[in-house]
Amino acid sequence: MVDSLKKPQFEEIRPGIKAPAKETILTPRFYTTDFEEMAQMDISANEDELKAILEEFRVDYNRHHFVRDEEFDRSWDRIDGETRRLFVEFLERSCTAEFSGFLLYKELGRRLKGKNPVLAEIFNLMSRDEARHAGFLNKALSDFNLSLDLGFLTKSRDYTFFKPKFIFYATYLSEKIGYWRYITIYRHLEKHPEDRIYPIFRFFENWCQDENRHGDFFDAIMRAQPNTLNDWKARLWSRFFLLSVFATMYLNDIQRSDFYASIGLDAREYDKFVIEKTNDTAGRVFPVILDVNHPEFYDRLETCVSNNERLRAIDSSNSPKIAKFFRKLPSYVSNGWQFVKLYLIKPIRVDNLQGTVR
Ligand SMILES: [Fe+2]
Ligand SMILES: [Fe+2]
Repeated sequence: MVDSLKKPQFEEIRPGIKAPAKETILTPRFYTTDFEEMAQMDISANEDELKAILEEFRVDYNRHHFVRDEEFDRSWDRIDGETRRLFVEFLERSCTAEFSGFLLYKELGRRLKGKNPVLAEIFNLMSRDEARHAGFLNKALSDFNLSLDLGFLTKSRDYTFFKPKFIFYATYLSEKIGYWRYITIYRHLEKHPEDRIYPIFRFFENWCQDENRHGDFFDAIMRAQPNTLNDWKARLWSRFFLLSVFATMYLNDIQRSDFYASIGLDAREYDKFVIEKTNDTAGRVFPVILDVNHPEFYDRLETCVSNNERLRAIDSSNSPKIAKFFRKLPSYVSNGWQFVKLYLIKPIRVDNLQGTVR
């Protein structure tokens, strides 16, 4: 019998129910916001486009897409050992991220009902999509004899409060980066079917179109609130959110290079491609984008990758807590410094391009 089948690789809260991964600065975040401010929002500046987006969501292109076919009906025990661990981790992280979108959109739909009907319906329909995505991933986890207790996750996680403007920056980017992540994996596996070791990747093509539409909605709502885009504060915050989202993904993915290798992808190449595409896409709405081709950009991120390796090694050592803290301090300071230096790289002004490439 394969080693991984003898002893559980994961901590379980009940038989078959995986304990959620420990929350860190790099795990998917759960958000909450000022619902009253959101309800009062005047969307008239871009109402026609928002209504057109609502019509698209009503059509529900992926109504029949998320149906498991016979290809799932076999044993996945041959994905074993470290690959199995990385696979489960990928499914869990993706499921948690999708579910976090579901919770936020669902709550927005509920709180805006009767106050801002167009936005309320859009949020409800986006939460419908995210529920499907999260459910499909959770079902995939069951192929590995595990699942996530999403009710438990709802109650046990910390929620980050962002004012609506920041929710827009953060969710816009997470939808668009999600689109580029899914489509890039899909296109790679289309060319290399031998690397498609599990059927879920076949679903990514239509799936990522949901994320793309969600991103387009946040693009339209930001343009309905021009103050989120057209002053110096907007330029500083756009830089901040772009950098945070790119750095988080890079550090997460490089740490999990073996997962990407298991589906034939080089994690660094994959991330650089996704970052470049997301950065370009963001230029359609954000006033600035990052200079990701600046020679320091990836050098500094690589310094953070090494720092994080050191931090993990210290964490898994047997030193007392206080000693660990002092050994970790230089790496924390270095990460903070790299982030500041990355933030200060001169961004690229793209105000003039907005709305041109759709
Ligand atoms: Fe999604
Ligand atoms: Fe989405």
